[in-house]
Amino acid sequence: MSNTKLVEKLNGGLAWELRASALYSHYSAYVKGIHRIHLKAFFDEEASESNTHADMVRAAIVKLGGQAVTDRDPTEIVHTTDYKVMLEEALKTEQKAAKGYEAVLALIKDDEEMYDSIEQIYFQELRSVEEVTQLL
Ligand SMILES: [Fe+2]
Repeated sequence: MSNTKLVEKLNGGLAWELRASALYSHYSAYVKGIHRIHLKAFFDEEASESNTHADMVRAAIVKLGGQAVTDRDPTEIVHTTDYKVMLEEALKTEQKAAKGYEAVLALIKDDEEMYDSIEQIYFQELRSVEEVTQLL
């Protein structure tokens, strides 16, 4: 796989992280009722994790000599004050992220450092999928 194709894939992941960060910050602001006690902290943590992932993916793009995107993925962020809908949207977001990184991992086997870094993100996405599934 050429660097151009790989950068394209990583940029897809980066745009998805930027969207995830916006989604979690949005839900953190709007989550209502008794569930706010737990879910605001959870959404804040997930937003911060998405920003960390974005930084790691951006670093990989820079290493490949590519140009990192600055816009988030355009997929709609569903506005709601219903925490269940928020969690369902979070689950979809994490599942898609995990799938994307799984595909990237298959392409970067010869770069150990990059593989380790993307694998770390991938495992965190899997943990998030598991966590949100438990919350639902
Ligand atoms: Fe992520």
